[in-house]
Amino acid sequence: MTTAQTRILELRQELDEHNYRYYVLDEPSIPDAEYDRLFRELKALEADNPQLVTPDSPTQRVGGAALSAFATVRHEIPMLSLGNAFEEQDLLDFDRRVCDGLETQAVEYSCEPKLDGLAVSLLYQDGQLVRGATRGDGTTGEDISVNVRTIRNVPLRLKGSGWPTTLEVRGEVYMSKAGFERLNAAQAEAGGKTFANPRNAAAGSLRQLDSRITASRPLEFCCYGIGQVSHDIADTHIGNLKQLQQWGLPISRELKLANSVEQCLEYYRDIGARRQALAYEIDGVVFKVNSIGAQRELGFRSREPRWALAHKFPASEEMTELLDVEFQVGRTGAVTPVARLKPVKVAGVTVANATLHNMDEVARLGLMIGDTVIIRRAGDVIPQVMQVVTDRRPADARPVPVPTACPVCGSEVERTQLIKRSKGKQTVIEGVVYRCVGRLACAAQLKQAIIHFVSRRAMDVDGLGDKIVEQLVDTGLVRSPADLYTLTQEQVLALEGFAEVSSRNLVNAIAASRTPALARFIFALGIPEVGEETAKVLARSLGTLQRIMAAKPLVLTYLPDIGNEVAYEIGHFFEEEHNRTVIAQLLERGIELQGEGELHAEFAAATSFEGLVAKLDIPYVGPGAAQKLAQKFGALDTLAQADWLDLRQVVAERTAKAVREYFDDPQRRAEALAVEAQLRDFGMHWASVKKVVEGLPLAGQTWVLTGTLESMSRDEAKDKLEALGAKVAGSVSAKTHTVVAGPGAGSKLAKAQQLGVAVMDEAQFAAMLAEPSGL
Ligand code: IVH
Repeated sequence: MTTAQTRILELRQELDEHNYRYYVLDEPSIPDAEYDRLFRELKALEADNPQLVTPDSPTQRVGGAALSAFATVRHEIPMLSLGNAFEEQDLLDFDRRVCDGLETQAVEYSCEPKLDGLAVSLLYQDGQLVRGATRGDGTTGEDISVNVRTIRNVPLRLKGSGWPTTLEVRGEVYMSKAGFERLNAAQAEAGGKTFANPRNAAAGSLRQLDSRITASRPLEFCCYGIGQVSHDIADTHIGNLKQLQQWGLPISRELKLANSVEQCLEYYRDIGARRQALAYEIDGVVFKVNSIGAQRELGFRSREPRWALAHKFPASEEMTELLDVEFQVGRTGAVTPVARLKPVKVAGVTVANATLHNMDEVARLGLMIGDTVIIRRAGDVIPQVMQVVTDRRPADARPVPVPTACPVCGSEVERTQLIKRSKGKQTVIEGVVYRCVGRLACAAQLKQAIIHFVSRRAMDVDGLGDKIVEQLVDTGLVRSPADLYTLTQEQVLALEGFAEVSSRNLVNAIAASRTPALARFIFALGIPEVGEETAKVLARSLGTLQRIMAAKPLVLTYLPDIGNEVAYEIGHFFEEEHNRTVIAQLLERGIELQGEGELHAEFAAATSFEGLVAKLDIPYVGPGAAQKLAQKFGALDTLAQADWLDLRQVVAERTAKAVREYFDDPQRRAEALAVEAQLRDFGMHWASVKKVVEGLPLAGQTWVLTGTLESMSRDEAKDKLEALGAKVAGSVSAKTHTVVAGPGAGSKLAKAQQLGVAVMDEAQFAAMLAEPSGL
């Protein structure tokens, strides 16, 4: 033997042993990196000595050239199916039949999980894997030898010794839950097909004509029995499996012996309780008479053994019919499709409705009314439609209608539009949501708007629960949140379930909510995309309801954490006539907003002319060009009128051209000037901005950030410094006031030290932010 040959054999043996420990015993013996190193060494040696490559080498799991079809395999011993038990009684009846058949009182059973994958036969000749086949119809299956060879825990060669010359092993090929999630995520990422469940994913992966695809899929094998054997192995089923495990085949860790049918039931309940926590999906457990002699005595009935039974769990996936698709209306008017199903029991619970999310999901599923669908209920989540069984589509199936009118109020339904802005261009793309335009005229939206309006974190009206809101809306007493403030005690008393005291309490509670802080009131309005935090930002920065209502989207984007989309929603909300009416009524009916005040310095500090120029989204105008343009022209009207030559003095030719084109468009020009005018209205003309900034603690200072900060991002740190009036620069010079240096700071820190510029670490910086005037 050459040295290469010796080393190759050594490496294969070592790798096989590690594989066995890892996959079969579940006790990894070396780190992955070490395994990879051995594997690479073997691969390199085999590449140099191709004549030494054998089919059982661990390197031969990569798949090969694609086949045009699978060959047919005949199963010498048919691959049978199992009888099913759904109720405890079915199991007790089975045990009775077994005991009667064997003329005994109690029988030993093996207990195993029923894996949800697909049955496979593996044929070993003289310890070498020579063939893998699917079950097919039980008599003939398909030859998937190349594919099974790619499954990591299928031994290509048996371990140890004493195996029958011919040994056919049977078991399940499946995919773990984690493997399935990973595969689907990768498929979705690559724009490929995703699988409905691990079982489909395992089947789709194993039956690939291109075995390299199979090799890339996280398939696993678990052995649960034997077929053809040239000599008997053990005299019990469990004995057989334990021996197979010694030879390197993976068997279930959950394999147990039960001494009676009662213990079988215990096993069923125990695994049932742990089912969600198992790494793979199972659809029940399998009980088998443990003694091989007894199995032979009992024999078969048609295509099922009399000695084995599958005790199924209540299914969490079921098939049923889609009777109709109805639409529900949410608080913001979103109209969502809901599947009305022919009621079916799923995992013990009757299901008649399932969520369809949105119309894109309906399209993705290819759903038609009348279809047979697969629905799934996982844990406590709302049942979902997983898949359409297209084979069963009836001739009179009809498409799911696109909603055109609101099911509650009859108003028009619009498809939402998403506006994407980039470099001066505005593109409108269709959103997935359809929205009822009825707003508060729509009872569904009105009810939910009021429920939100009075909720604890909004106007905080004590004791005004959902049921009362329903009544107030249904009786027509309340047609907008403003109507709450004209309710009289007599009106409330007339409602169901109210008496003297309770009606007085409710009216008093409503009256007590008349003085909300501005931020609460903004939140209570239920503006799409505006949660509590955004409401606080609006209130704090702009100070008054009037300014918030008037603010143009572009002005709003100056505020912390408000992007284009949210700014658009806010602007749109206050533009709508009926929203303005409701707000006006609320104020007329005695709402007094608390804490209204001045425009916040933080906002003033962030509104620089240079910032506005950058925000206009003029092609080629990034922060650098914006700064130069701002410095040269000082105000927007000057910039808008600037001629080409003036522009060319500060920016490149194509940028100058883009600026001219932008302001030559009358609409854009007007919009931009309106933004500037609004800022001026708010008291923020560029000169006065300067004045406000001058009053801030860090006015006139230039700061530099370098290294990483742990408690905040660089952007946050920059925002905070700017809010205090500082300029934040990218490089250090003698003019730099302070450098904030986090871990990993390099050349900027060195330069600061060289120039004698002050340096702060993160802790000092945080302390400064907490008390900036202490500087
Ligand atoms: S024994 C004659 N044991 O269930 C006995 N089957 O409905 C044949 N299965 O086609 C099968 N886990 O795909 C057996 N521990 C297990 C099993 C199991 C899953 C599948 C197998 C078979 C089907 C029978």
